[in-house]
Formats: sequence, structure tokens, C-alpha cells
Amino acid sequence: MAKVTVKNDNQTVEVPDGSLLAELDGKTSILFACKSGSCGSCKCKVLEGKENLEPPNDVEQSGLATFGTDPEDRLLCVAKIKKGSVKVEY
Ligand code: FES
Repeated sequence: MAKVTVKNDNQTVEVPDGSLLAELDGKTSILFACKSGSCGSCKCKVLEGKENLEPPNDVEQSGLATFGTDPEDRLLCVAKIKKGSVKVEY
């Protein structure tokens, strides 16, 4: 299991290795409105462990071009974790 820490919640949630981080919906305070990379509600900054995420796919890159303001931003609904630990904040 991989671990995602949400700084805003001071909470760590376990998700299966290789899963989309839309898995966090309902388990943290991160808002997932569209789950398709098109609304920006799930945008988070990766504070630690960015190497444990798959690179942004085309959908995420398109969304980040619209909503991303920081090079460490990711859209968690369409971001996939490989394994290990990641720490994010929104
Ligand atoms: S929930 Fe809309 S972009 Fe992630």
C-alpha cells in the first residue's frame, strides 16, 4: 500500500500501489468535483515524494496548463501513485 499525507488534514491515508489518487475522495478534505481533470478542484502541491507519482498524462497536462500555478502542482483525480509515500497540500 502507498501512503498519501494531506498536510491540511494532518492525516495519512493508505491507497493501493498503482492507484489513481481519486481514491482519496471522501477519505480526506480534498474536493473532487469532476474526477476527470477538468475542474481544478483537486489541485494540490506535492511537498514530498513526487518521484513516487507517475508523470502527468495528457489529460492532467491539459488541466495543469489551465489550473496549475506551481511546477509542483498535480491534479490528484487523474494522478497515479506508483508506491511509497507522498505528501500534498492544497
Ligand atoms: S476533480 Fe476536477 S480536476 Fe480533479
